[in-house]
Amino acid sequence: MKNVVLIGFMGTGKSSCGRAAAQQLGYRFVDLDKEIEDRYGMAIPEMFKKYGEAYFRDKEKEMVRYWAAQKNTVISTGGGTVKDAENVALLKATGKIICLTADVDTLLARTDKQGRRPVLDARAAELGGDRRQAIRSLLDERQPMYEQADYAVDTGELSPLQVAIKIAEYIKKF
Ligand code: S3P
Repeated sequence: MKNVVLIGFMGTGKSSCGRAAAQQLGYRFVDLDKEIEDRYGMAIPEMFKKYGEAYFRDKEKEMVRYWAAQKNTVISTGGGTVKDAENVALLKATGKIICLTADVDTLLARTDKQGRRPVLDARAAELGGDRRQAIRSLLDERQPMYEQADYAVDTGELSPLQVAIKIAEYIKKF
């Protein structure tokens, strides 16, 4: 079996639902952000601060290349992984792409802590500290990329296990 790739905005639950989906399917689970942090011994916000976003995107792309070539793996991506068309092509070639979604209120509540998500923090700073507006504007930009998924699940009202069951039901059809 090929891979299952979770894409979606920050706070949609890619990691928690991905882990649960891997359990449902009996697949391995990998979180690309965590792989980068472990490999480079640095938290992502620190990496952004020290080396900038382009450096992080470079490392992210390396991880995509490696993991897209594996099998039977649920891959949880970062919210911006799909900004790179080559990443999308690689992930699509070897897996089913599932987009997790949630409404803006839910996303705002799940990403309210500053200092953890440099892209959101930076956009909010540009907008006078308005995190809701920052989420809206990033979502607007990224919507077409998230729409490239094969299947979507709204995680707003569901537990990770419920989302995982939906994902597993979808994948088992193939
Ligand atoms: C990012 C999302 C983060 C992480 C990095 C950049 C983004 O992952 O990859 O901070 O550009 O949306 P999560 O979606 O897991 O928060």
